[in-house]
Amino acid sequence: MDRIRITGGRPLHGEIPISGAKNATLPLMIASLLTDKTLVLDNVPHLADVVQLQRILNNHGVDVMLSGKRSGDADNKGQTVKISAEKIVDTTAPYELVSKMRASFWVIAPLVARMGEARVSLPGGCAIGTRPVDLLIMALERLGAKIDIEGGYAIARAPRGLRGGEIVFPKVTVGGTHVAVMAAALAQGTTVIENAACEPEITDVADCLVKMGARISGAGTRQIVIEGVSSLSGARHSVLPDRIETGTYAMAVAMTGGDVLLQGARAELLQSALDVLVQVGATVTATNEGVRVARNGAGIAPVDVTTEPFPGFPTDLQAQLMALMTRARGTSHITETIFENRFMHVQELARLGARISLDGQTATIEGVERLKGAPVMATDLRASVSLVIAALAAEGETVVNRVYHLDRGFERLEEKLGQCGAAIERISG
Ligand code: UD1
Repeated sequence: MDRIRITGGRPLHGEIPISGAKNATLPLMIASLLTDKTLVLDNVPHLADVVQLQRILNNHGVDVMLSGKRSGDADNKGQTVKISAEKIVDTTAPYELVSKMRASFWVIAPLVARMGEARVSLPGGCAIGTRPVDLLIMALERLGAKIDIEGGYAIARAPRGLRGGEIVFPKVTVGGTHVAVMAAALAQGTTVIENAACEPEITDVADCLVKMGARISGAGTRQIVIEGVSSLSGARHSVLPDRIETGTYAMAVAMTGGDVLLQGARAELLQSALDVLVQVGATVTATNEGVRVARNGAGIAPVDVTTEPFPGFPTDLQAQLMALMTRARGTSHITETIFENRFMHVQELARLGARISLDGQTATIEGVERLKGAPVMATDLRASVSLVIAALAAEGETVVNRVYHLDRGFERLEEKLGQCGAAIERISG
């Protein structure tokens, strides 16, 4: 299993290209199941989760073609993926595949909408607390699907197709909103989704569906209205930049000091996180080329932050902010409201010398003068990158074990940081 070795203490200077968003790529690839025509996606990141979803789509009989790098292409250029679900040969998504990545459960929506049936394994446990799918199932039922749970599988049936309806989410759910929008796109009649997620990835997927012929309005607001159509066509769509990757590197720069241009990043996708970084003492400038983040001289100021659905501070940057706060001049509080038990990184950060105490969903972080390198273990995607951020500022050497978590969501992390002066290397095997 690969590990990453980091020797801390170097500021970051230079440019980091921001990849296409993982959390948009996955639902966009899943949306390809809605049509028998070809969907072409540009700016797709090279990530383990993308490869895993490709396997799942292949299992349904979908043709996924990834273009190779052409001479003259920049190293950071995203992939172009051509996906053709001309024939769906199997409407079952088996446990072995779904259990590796929760978002793959979302295939249930296009499968039942287009094929009238789907048999999809329930995703099972997850390192960041129970992550149920009850609201996804509720949404499909509101559109007329009959759903039974048997042998660990959700079996959805709508032999005469789905019909539009009103879906009111009692809490904001990104996955629930993706599922509802995809299913409603092919349902007969009008669907109104209330309390929809407003995350930029929802808007990106809706934009792509509209290019495919779907009739969707209000994506990016709390109410989305969909007029169902009988079939969708192919389209070409470029994945929006990854706001979580952007925020992660922005926090890394705030941690180490230095000055980095996050190329291709869009400030409006993570304004709340950038506002926090300004409070922390970083300088953030949106330019035509991306977002420039710098910190020099001044220390790291403590902050109090609560995670919220978009446009609030994202839960996917909570661990990274906590790493940054370990070196603040004073005491910070971070409250997690989206996921229970998303504090797996606390114990590992403590191994580097961080002082963090937990009270329910709130972490109190007492900033320390120095962190010291140590072997640590990655536990989930965002937690593992928080260890990288802490290690970049720790004295001496840190080895992050189980980096396959990082590879799920961060493309060429060690190269991107290494280019900016970090002492970071991958140790294979
Ligand atoms: C997505 C993101 C993930 C991010 C999360 C919140 C992808 C691939 N993943 O995950 O990176 O951290 O949004 O921004 O885009 N819930 C229920 N019942 C359900 C569904 C969700 O109670 O049926 C709860 C969850 O337990 C959680 C909250 O709703 O407390 C939000 O979860 P949700 O937005 O659905 O997260 P995901 O879509 O799984």
